[in-house]
Amino acid sequence: MTPPVDSTRKPVTLHRLREMHAQGEKIAMLTAYDATFARLVDDAGVDCILVGDSLGMLVQGHGSTVPVSIDEMVYHTRCVARGNRTAWVVGDLPFGSYQESREQALRSSVALMQAGAHMVKLEGGGWTADTVHFLTERGIPVCAHLGLTPQSVHALGGYRIQGRDQAGADTMRRHAKELTEAGAAMLVLELMPSAVAAQVQADNPGLMTIGIGAGRATAGQVLVLHDMLNFTRGKLPRFVRNFAADGGSAEDAVRRYVAAVKDASFPDEAVHGY
Ligand code: KIV
Repeated sequence: MTPPVDSTRKPVTLHRLREMHAQGEKIAMLTAYDATFARLVDDAGVDCILVGDSLGMLVQGHGSTVPVSIDEMVYHTRCVARGNRTAWVVGDLPFGSYQESREQALRSSVALMQAGAHMVKLEGGGWTADTVHFLTERGIPVCAHLGLTPQSVHALGGYRIQGRDQAGADTMRRHAKELTEAGAAMLVLELMPSAVAAQVQADNPGLMTIGIGAGRATAGQVLVLHDMLNFTRGKLPRFVRNFAADGGSAEDAVRRYVAAVKDASFPDEAVHGY
């Protein structure tokens, strides 16, 4: 039977997330794109909800995240904010909404924050450090994203593992350091050898790294909700685990995910690692 919802849980703040990280408690993040699923994953105890631009594929039926607009992200962030009670909400800045200038990034971030996001996420390293600094200086918490950055799928030549060779790993480490110094509080690390993600975390101890296909040394984990509930059709990446396989409700599956992230039994390096 699904356990009762903890109605006493206080809203998760950046301060609380930093405290968890300092104390070695893993951070559990999942995507959600609407009020119903936001409520469900919040009730099941996730620390953070990512309103990811992966909704371009999972909700809108596109082949990539590239077509998603800032207005669509604002709409879905509003939906999630209405359903959520306590989780920390990260709003994804979509392709084309922050690359033009720091001012464009600020306008897009303000729109997401006013829609109910607590933090914005942007992809890439190098030039993004300046934008991260500009946003954090203006009171906007930022989550960066390195490794496989899906908005650059065409430039990367597909959904490939990143940082496999020494030069790639060194660049990733340099970008992570620059983003940390620029003020990023959180960093999604996607699809890379576990050793590279572990090195990034070790280089930047205060940074909350959130892995997806990046091993178990990160401060937390994120998965796409539709993938871990086995709703997604087609071949899934190796790093996904089907948390619905043991039956029960969707909320039970999310509770199993949260428990597995917290006790570090997910990801299993032998099964999900690179
Ligand atoms: O858009 C998204 O869901 C993401 C995750 C894959 C990290 O960026």
